[in-house]
Amino acid sequence: MFAGACEDMESETELAWGAVLTEAARLRGVHLRELFARDPSRAERFSLEACDLFVDYSKNRFDATALKRLLGLAEAIHLEEKIASMFAGEAVNATEGRAALHVALRRREPGPFPVSPDGTGDVMTEVREVLARLRAFSEAVRSGRWRGQRGSPITDVVNIGIGGSDLGPRLACDALAEHARDPLRTHFVSNLDSTELDRTLEGLDPAATLFLVASKTFGTHETLTNARSARRWLVAAEGEQAVGRHFAALSSERRRVAEFGIEEAQTFEFWDWVGGRYSLWSAIGCAIALGLGFEVFERLHAGAARMDEHFLTAPFDRNLPVLLGLLRIWYRNGFGAETRALLPYDFALRHLPAYLQQLEMESLGKRVMSTGHPVARATCPVVWGGLGNNGQHAFYQLLHQGTQMVPSDFIIPARLQRSAPGHERAVLANALAQMEALMRGRTFEEAQAELDGAGGGDPGLAAHMTMEGNQPTTAILYERLDPERLGALIALYEHEVFVQGALWGVNPFDQFGVELGKRLAELIEVELSGSVGGRSSHQHDPSTFSLIERLRRMPAG
Ligand code: F6P
Repeated sequence: MFAGACEDMESETELAWGAVLTEAARLRGVHLRELFARDPSRAERFSLEACDLFVDYSKNRFDATALKRLLGLAEAIHLEEKIASMFAGEAVNATEGRAALHVALRRREPGPFPVSPDGTGDVMTEVREVLARLRAFSEAVRSGRWRGQRGSPITDVVNIGIGGSDLGPRLACDALAEHARDPLRTHFVSNLDSTELDRTLEGLDPAATLFLVASKTFGTHETLTNARSARRWLVAAEGEQAVGRHFAALSSERRRVAEFGIEEAQTFEFWDWVGGRYSLWSAIGCAIALGLGFEVFERLHAGAARMDEHFLTAPFDRNLPVLLGLLRIWYRNGFGAETRALLPYDFALRHLPAYLQQLEMESLGKRVMSTGHPVARATCPVVWGGLGNNGQHAFYQLLHQGTQMVPSDFIIPARLQRSAPGHERAVLANALAQMEALMRGRTFEEAQAELDGAGGGDPGLAAHMTMEGNQPTTAILYERLDPERLGALIALYEHEVFVQGALWGVNPFDQFGVELGKRLAELIEVELSGSVGGRSSHQHDPSTFSLIERLRRMPAG
């Protein structure tokens, strides 16, 4: 692009950002109660249903004019073209020179998935081939046709992986457990502390256990250390020859997999254009296919594919990922919100906050734009959360009366996975009540009136009972969680992350920030072992140095 055109684009973008920030300044002092009073149709106007998810975003601190400016910003940064580039397989992961084609993994239509540079490339042949092998393998294992070394059917699958090679399958296997016919037991081991592996293996029968070593790079220290220990456990019981039969690999590094001793027939590949935190849809989802059945995995894909279609085709003012992405930056940059909470009221989604933490924070925790220039604004807030109902009795106090704004997503099932009498309605009542309380708050006068109504009491208490309210919440409501809805929900979050990345100009598909710590850990591990003769090979800071020294002096376990 010519320098002049670039400058024009930059100034158009800056103008659009300016307009958004002006609106935020106008609305910072306005209470949500006031916004609802001004516009009685607000709830209908600012809610939307797509892919079986109903989203009510009316309890957010914006109005029609602010939304117009936000949509203007999306236009100014040419968001539509950026979305199209991702779906066209262009190298949107610019720092690593790669496409980001998780959307191809869940594509349902027959035919090629044209990818750039010239639109003649295709990834679907290899995607379909790996999925077909996964189907055959999972069906054979689940039916008992494929057996362990000594002829025992497989009863337990242990997924060894970390980050994106753990969180996605862990979430889906747990969330969709009720949707499987004859589920196999699935277990997940990610932590380097061997206690996790040890506890998992307790009670498992080596002859009936299948390990999945899930690692895109097949070089992740935690995963390989756990995989080696699992291998020792197996070999101790079943002998070396059992390794070939009791290990499978999910990876893009075939050579390293072979070096570990895993057979080609049990190696399921994926590609460098699938980011770790976007890899649930690839061979990394093997535990889902094995544990719950391939048809559940396919239904998950189908739900995500529907959301892809919605993201690609819906006008921006009716486009869920676009609207949510815009609201995220609205609070981060317009209101200075430093955190954001994810509050599922569905027990099936208890692992969702951890999954989304990686998705959002590893993707958007950046301070440099794709261009290499420092990003002009604050980026990703701290994303955290937990089951909403439990949180009510733990951290919600801060949401109600703390001093900071915490926009939150309430993820609400109309129907539970298993419902005993009275539970369903109570869950819904709690979720709706919390959102209402966070929005309305309680004024000093209301608190005083309550005290008076209860026969007076300490007048000083009214101040303590006062709640500012005005905390923004977004409700994501669905009927009963099923594979399609979970697929759509995850894809919704993936795409709103993409939108934020585009608005800030950062690359959501790399993660250089995690490298330095990994490298230092390798050095320190050697130093702790004492194999460098008690001397540190690296210029550590005094604190790290003295911790290393102290640990070296401690008696070995
Ligand atoms: O350290 C971060 C990270 O690279 C994540 O991005 C990734 O999901 C995780 O580690 C696991 O990586 P791998 O699948 O290569 O073992």
